[in-house]
Amino acid sequence: MPLFRKAAEQTPEVDFTRLPRHIAIIMDGNGRWAKRRGLPRTAGHAAGAETFRTIATYCKEIGLDYLTVYAFSTENWKRPEEEVSSIMTLLKKYLLEAIDRMERDRVKMAFFGDLTPLTPELRELCERTREISKHYEGCQVNICLNYGGRDEITRAVRQLAEECVKEGRSPDSIAERDISDRLFSAGVPDPDLIIRPSGEVRTSNFLLWQSAYSEYYFTDVLWPDFSKEELHKAIASYQKRSRRFGGV
Ligand code: IPE
Ligand code: IPE
Ligand code: MG
Repeated sequence: MPLFRKAAEQTPEVDFTRLPRHIAIIMDGNGRWAKRRGLPRTAGHAAGAETFRTIATYCKEIGLDYLTVYAFSTENWKRPEEEVSSIMTLLKKYLLEAIDRMERDRVKMAFFGDLTPLTPELRELCERTREISKHYEGCQVNICLNYGGRDEITRAVRQLAEECVKEGRSPDSIAERDISDRLFSAGVPDPDLIIRPSGEVRTSNFLLWQSAYSEYYFTDVLWPDFSKEELHKAIASYQKRSRRFGGV
């Protein structure tokens, strides 16, 4: 088969000059991926971390501005302690490697979520990753850790309420922008496309405020099996849609 035809088949109808500006992904299905192979769930998380690395690198390569990934939710603490601790160990491994490759990859990294329940070591690694990469241009990758959309909105509202009490600010002056500016995502445009692999068709508390007009793409593929081709399918689907934002 001629090379150009193969390339065209691998990138179904994606117009790389019209990419969404911000893609967000709920990285789900690691446990089921492992179960199907008779492996412990932790093996699924390890495979999922590899997929994240591949997809994040590829997003930078194609010139995406923002990638936001859901790595650990405020509800995921309910899982057995061994599973939580293995996810945290993988996170540490990922961050150490990311710091090591920072100069080569030059991906700007940020974290959404309340990091205080993480160990001081992990918090320090997150802070170091953010600090070293903050001047990099190009793709920004936001990792949602101990993130919950309701928690995020609650914090913003609490902050505003404090301003009203302490600074005598009038509640009437509160606008949508005041909330957006107090979210973990302050300054980052809303996601254009939200992808959820694994077959679940729900948000699970992800970017509740920011997703008001996001386009969703659901697929049965489990996160560790997610590939560049799957990403192409999601983007191609997004590019066929008509976004009206309430207009005509
Ligand atoms: C997503 O995969 C990873 C995290 C939530 C940390 P899951 O662990 O939820 O995988 P499934 O949904 O059980 O297959
Ligand atoms: C959402 O997946 C959270 C992450 C992928 C980090 P879950 O597996 O926690 O969501 P539910 O429980 O199926 O809704
Ligand atoms: Mg899940």
